[in-house]
Amino acid sequence: MPRRAIRVGHNAWSMPELIAKKRDGGHLNDSEIQWIIRGYTDGLIPEYQMSALAMAIVWRGMSDEETASLTFAMRDSGTTMNLSAVSRPCIDKHSTGGVGDKVSICLAPMVAACGVAVPMISGRGLGHTGGTLDKLESIPGFGVDMNPSRFVRQLQSLGCALIGQTKDMAPADKRFYALRDVTATVESIPLITASILSKKLASGISGLVLDVKTGQGAFMKTPEEARLLARSLVRIGRLAKKRVSAFLTNMDAPLGRAVGNALETKEAFEVLNGGGPEDLLECTLVLGAEMLRLSGIVKGQAAGQRLLEQTIKDGTALRLMKRIIRAQHGDARVIEEPDRLPRAPYTCTIKAKATGFVHSIDAYGIGRVSVALGAGREQVDEAIDPGVGMILHMKPGDKVVVGQPLVTVHTRTPTLPATLRQRIIEAIHVGSRFVSPAPLILESMRG
Ligand code: URA
Repeated sequence: MPRRAIRVGHNAWSMPELIAKKRDGGHLNDSEIQWIIRGYTDGLIPEYQMSALAMAIVWRGMSDEETASLTFAMRDSGTTMNLSAVSRPCIDKHSTGGVGDKVSICLAPMVAACGVAVPMISGRGLGHTGGTLDKLESIPGFGVDMNPSRFVRQLQSLGCALIGQTKDMAPADKRFYALRDVTATVESIPLITASILSKKLASGISGLVLDVKTGQGAFMKTPEEARLLARSLVRIGRLAKKRVSAFLTNMDAPLGRAVGNALETKEAFEVLNGGGPEDLLECTLVLGAEMLRLSGIVKGQAAGQRLLEQTIKDGTALRLMKRIIRAQHGDARVIEEPDRLPRAPYTCTIKAKATGFVHSIDAYGIGRVSVALGAGREQVDEAIDPGVGMILHMKPGDKVVVGQPLVTVHTRTPTLPATLRQRIIEAIHVGSRFVSPAPLILESMRG
């Protein structure tokens, strides 16, 4: 049915005119953006018009002023959590998504054990990337839905709650993101900025540390793109009067050794137990120390990292994680008895065909295999298999000898399809000369 201009108070615009304005490189003012987001949230502006606008923004971009207006309009499309009852500073961490990224699961209890409240609102895996909610849900009974009053109570009592975006939180972003996902309009710095920050601002935080991933396994393939996104997030965060820092981190190879939901959760527990892969621990300490710095608990990275390491050594982070799991109805015995986590019935090992040095492990390729095994989803509402995945027995820079196990694949089927085996082999590049691996932390922008 054809639609006419929607009237909001005495203002009236027509969506085709606003789309054309952006298409031609014009600037949308705050009232126009608010009008669009309100109309879209109320179902008055149809998906086809929003999709045309999204494409115009992808091509023409947005100024900081426009991006801030879009962020605030999407934040205000639903309810904002009121965390004033929480006496500690409320700082969250957000990653733009990668493969093997289970940092949130070890970082949240470590940071909370240092006295910060971590209102962690996470997402699900989509495409080749994993999501913290799926990993947490591999813990039997663990619930990620919580009403706002329980969320605030848990934050006050334990200093941490690990939940998903509620339906009332930035609903305009929820719809707009799903639309962008199917109209090839995700890749836009202002749209990604507004999407990430609208959700985070709606969660009532006072500060945010962003892990902007770059490389083959990230949405931002090059450091240049990632830098632009990180700068945009920090600038708009400041306009929202929040303390926001960003780190550019390498996502050419998967983070840690485990890829797949229960396997990754187990690896995060290993970090809390004083073990785990070095890169995972490094990423956790750097991001966590910045959260402590933003909260005012420490003055710099080194002091922050020492405090976090102490929470591992004295067991406070692990004990807190158990309490969080219990509070969210999960089976906390998984920490001491990780075999209680779901497990795939079969494993198969891929061995090195040559002796040499690992030059790279293609995170995107490994992420795609993980999805094909059933650990991830292509469509938002697909079910996932928590037990399947891979353990990588080598990292870039390691020496491997012929016949040595490279990857153990955890599968639902007794044999691994030949195509998946081939894709794993192709993802691991072994050369005769040693090549030093790229650093994990590439850049920092401190707010
Ligand atoms: N993650 C989000 O939450 N939004 C985007 O637009 C991209 C990644």
